[in-house]
Amino acid sequence: MKFYVLTLFPDMIMDGLNHSIIKRACDDGAICIEAIDIRDFSNNKHRHVDDYPYGGGAGMVMQPQPIYDAYMSIKPKLSENCPVVYMTPQGKTFKQEKAQSLSELEDVVILCGHYEGVDERVIEEIVTDEISIGDFVLTGGELAAMTVIDAVARLIPGVLNKEESFQEESFSNNLLEYPQYTRPPEFMGRKVPDILLSGHHKNIEKWRREKSLERTYLKRPELIEKAGLTDEEWEFLKRVKS
Ligand code: ADE
Repeated sequence: MKFYVLTLFPDMIMDGLNHSIIKRACDDGAICIEAIDIRDFSNNKHRHVDDYPYGGGAGMVMQPQPIYDAYMSIKPKLSENCPVVYMTPQGKTFKQEKAQSLSELEDVVILCGHYEGVDERVIEEIVTDEISIGDFVLTGGELAAMTVIDAVARLIPGVLNKEESFQEESFSNNLLEYPQYTRPPEFMGRKVPDILLSGHHKNIEKWRREKSLERTYLKRPELIEKAGLTDEEWEFLKRVKS
């Protein structure tokens, strides 16, 4: 899968993602990330890409032409239905299902805004999706774009190795992950639960499932309805509640 990022800070994207699993995936060719510097498409001799807002007000607005030209420079390389995602707090909140559906595509273009925003006309012209990573405002879309790329990339076959992908993970089944422990068996007087040292796989599996249910119920109760619990598991949760 190929990620194209339209940005004023290409180094932020390329350096930020050049680590660990995502770096390995790029080196292996499982994914490809290209950051396109919007400033390279400025028609202005000072390479300006922003201007004052019509109607007045604070801050600057990114002009439509450099963004449009940056997009047109990659357009011939894009697949026919390649989405153009604008990172904005006004977008739909990013969830695991969206990460899954994006991971099934050949390519995606991600537009990162800065300053007070982006001229509305280029959004109307090229953007197909708007994504927010949460109800807070960042200084720009780059950290949000990196978040989306990381979450999408790890779902692409070949990006995680067998051990990494075997891990049961939060949200894949609408339940939070059970607690994990490693050596030593005791730390600051806190012991690893005996059951994990017992070697009894059936009991360990049951304990982990129950911890997942309990945690989800206590920390993210709104998720539990979607998790498809059995009658027995609802009974177990009733006991947790009381
Ligand atoms: N740009 C600024 N804030 C953002 C957010 N919360 N999500 C996505 N893009 C953003």
